Amino acid sequence: HHSPIPLASNISKNNNYCLFFPLVGLFASILLVQYANSIEVSQHLLHEIIEDVISIVFSIPTFNKITCSDVNSTRLRYYLYTPNNQINATRLNPEGQDNDLTNFDPSLETKFVTHGWLGEVNESWPEDIKNAYLKTGNYNIILLDWTAYSTHRYSRSACFVPKIANATARLLVQLKKDANLDLNKTHLIGHSLGGQMAGITGQFIQNLTSGEKVKRVTGLDAAGPLFCYPRVDHKDERITADDAQFVDGIHSNDGEFGCNIDYAQSNFYPNCGRSQSGCTKVDVSLLNITGSFNEFFSKISCSHGRSHQYWLESISKNDFSSRSCSSCLFFQGNLCSANSDDNVMGEYTSFSKDGEYFLKTNTEAPFGLL
Ligand SMILES: *[C@@H]1O[C@H](CO)[C@@H](O)[C@H](O)[C@H]1NC(C)=O
Ligand SMILES: *[C@@H]1O[C@H](CO)[C@@H](O)[C@H](O)[C@H]1NC(C)=O
Ligand SMILES: *[C@@H]1O[C@H](CO)[C@@H](O)[C@H](O)[C@H]1NC(C)=O
Ligand SMILES: *[C@@H]1O[C@H](CO)[C@@H](O)[C@H](O)[C@H]1NC(C)=O
Ligand SMILES: *[C@@H]1O[C@H](CO)[C@@H](O)[C@H](O)[C@H]1NC(C)=O
Ligand SMILES: *[C@@H]1O[C@H](CO)[C@@H](O)[C@H](O)[C@H]1NC(C)=O
Ligand SMILES: *[C@@H]1O[C@H](CO)[C@@H](O)[C@H](O)[C@H]1NC(C)=O
Repeated sequence: HHSPIPLASNISKNNNYCLFFPLVGLFASILLVQYANSIEVSQHLLHEIIEDVISIVFSIPTFNKITCSDVNSTRLRYYLYTPNNQINATRLNPEGQDNDLTNFDPSLETKFVTHGWLGEVNESWPEDIKNAYLKTGNYNIILLDWTAYSTHRYSRSACFVPKIANATARLLVQLKKDANLDLNKTHLIGHSLGGQMAGITGQFIQNLTSGEKVKRVTGLDAAGPLFCYPRVDHKDERITADDAQFVDGIHSNDGEFGCNIDYAQSNFYPNCGRSQSGCTKVDVSLLNITGSFNEFFSKISCSHGRSHQYWLESISKNDFSSRSCSSCLFFQGNLCSANSDDNVMGEYTSFSKDGEYFLKTNTEAPFGLL
């Protein structure tokens, strides 16, 4: 694999590891003082969340997999938008009962979009993506807000992911029965833990339909911790290239928030896939961030968040030309010339290609260099 990224398992052999655990607690305590009351969770949970964030950005998770309760599907918010209702959504009941499907058009492509840890829904990017799609064409769009389960410490939110994927798969299979949803025109898109969820939803759909695959799954920097590192999960428990007829992945923060393995059929590595242009490098200066927890989190997850910003831009611009190359070092050294395997990253990528693709971006929007 091309990755220049040190795996957590290598780092953990380092002596610094012993110093790391107490330091995480100390950093978290310092930050907690500033962020008290800035998100609606208890002080205790906020402290744990900050600890998780710090250990993730240093690629040494201080947490393990846990078990969790079942999800109460009435707390999952599925919103349907169509060309007939672009602004005011129809809320879908995941149990599949009493859904108003009059606006749902089975001849259209259906795009499902969801967020990741801590409910970035607050940043409203899934709505921006919905608006971009409806501006360029006719689609059924389903946005899932699972904030009720994503605003927990990381290991708990991660534990809920397959349970929510199960509920989503059941809803989509119900829509197939009730409204002729075409799985061959269904595209599941998720960021971070939502990316893992999109892949696992694709697997549940296969199990519920004796093997039918949705058209496409897209992992926008699908989550790394507990799925891809320190240990790579079994393929039934994470996003893989088998989850749909075509799977693509945008790697924007590999080995920190993102999954540092080639989980897709086509894997895109903007700016080599770990640190994005225009994002501040993460170091101890993070202790000097003023403002709210949300500002801290969006700054520290800047590279991670770029993947959904690139996606949004790709819908209207198709400006991310990407080079097929055996490694990012070769790409940076101009050792891979234009070739017939070159591709574009984003909505309009080729379904018939596979492999690793590299590109550079601008430091701010518009990010694509064409
Ligand atoms: C599920 O959540 C709804 C609303 O949040 C609540 O009314 C209901 O009692 C819950 N069901 C269970 C089984 O906990
Ligand atoms: C959306 O709903 C609001 C509140 O019910 C209503 O005022 C508005 O006209 C609706 N917008 C559209 C485009 O239907
Ligand atoms: C997130 O959403 C909540 C509820 O709508 C709001 O009170 C809060 O100000 C939002 N935070 C940010 C950073 O937008
Ligand atoms: C999926 O959800 C259904 C309905 O809630 C449940 O019966 C089933 O056990 C779940 N499957 C898994 C693998 O969790
Ligand atoms: C899915 O759609 C493609 C074209 O987009 C078509 O070639 C293929 O036959 C379809 N498969 C099914 C099972 O309908
Ligand atoms: C689908 O079914 C297979 C075989 O029974 C099982 O191993 C796998 O865990 C299931 N996948 C999901 C996501 O439930
Ligand atoms: C902390 O941040 C402020 C404002 O961004 C800056 O002026 C100051 O130099 C920073 N202090 C350190 C020690 O980096």
